[in-house]
Amino acid sequence: MRADALLSQFGYCSRREAPLWIQHGRMQSGGKVVQKPAEKVDAEQVLVDGQPVPFVHGLYVALHKPLGYTCSHRDCGELVYDLLPQQWLRRSSGLNTVGRLDRETSGLLLLSDDGRFVHALTSPKRHVSKVYEFACAEAVPPSAIGLFASGTLVLEGESTPCLPARLELTGECTGRLTLQEGRYHQVRRMLASVGAPVIRLHRTAIGPLCLQDLGIAPGEWMEIDPGVFNS
Ligand code: URA
Repeated sequence: MRADALLSQFGYCSRREAPLWIQHGRMQSGGKVVQKPAEKVDAEQVLVDGQPVPFVHGLYVALHKPLGYTCSHRDCGELVYDLLPQQWLRRSSGLNTVGRLDRETSGLLLLSDDGRFVHALTSPKRHVSKVYEFACAEAVPPSAIGLFASGTLVLEGESTPCLPARLELTGECTGRLTLQEGRYHQVRRMLASVGAPVIRLHRTAIGPLCLQDLGIAPGEWMEIDPGVFNS
């Protein structure tokens, strides 16, 4: 690809600013300083300001979403994207969250600029399991375990029942819920439907990725291998 196109595509600067970056000798390819914006370069061989181009083959990251952050590109208040390097947001491929967590839900959130990866993981056909730990304001009736597992629960305003979900109770008002799908406010709505409004919600795992094993603190992110979802 052209040197100037690489700089803008990977979010370093605008296409208009790129010639100046190149003129200032900030880009090297195969050990030589790139001289012209039109010069053909290989992203894997390029250094910009002495550093390799990050995530040449796509961005796949896990973020420990703190409470109070919104999964949106344009919303008022704090956004999950504020927690990431701003250069990523200027990449032409566009970074998105894999599904969403509510503003008042914390935990594991995946982000990628690979549209096919995002789509594959959010597809209801894929059945990627998501594990949530919750606390409710009221006791959760033990009968909810069978109801959620039965695949017959129809949420208010919907016509198709939720897929079978695994509910484990760790206390009267606390527990863990494993879902195979991701409907709008699903955990809160399922628990509200059995008279137990959620007051705390935290996602601990998505498929094989577990927040505790990743060891990332609230607000921190790390690169992940998208291949872990293929097995
Ligand atoms: N279910 C919810 O109710 N909220 C979330 O953030 C995720 C799942």
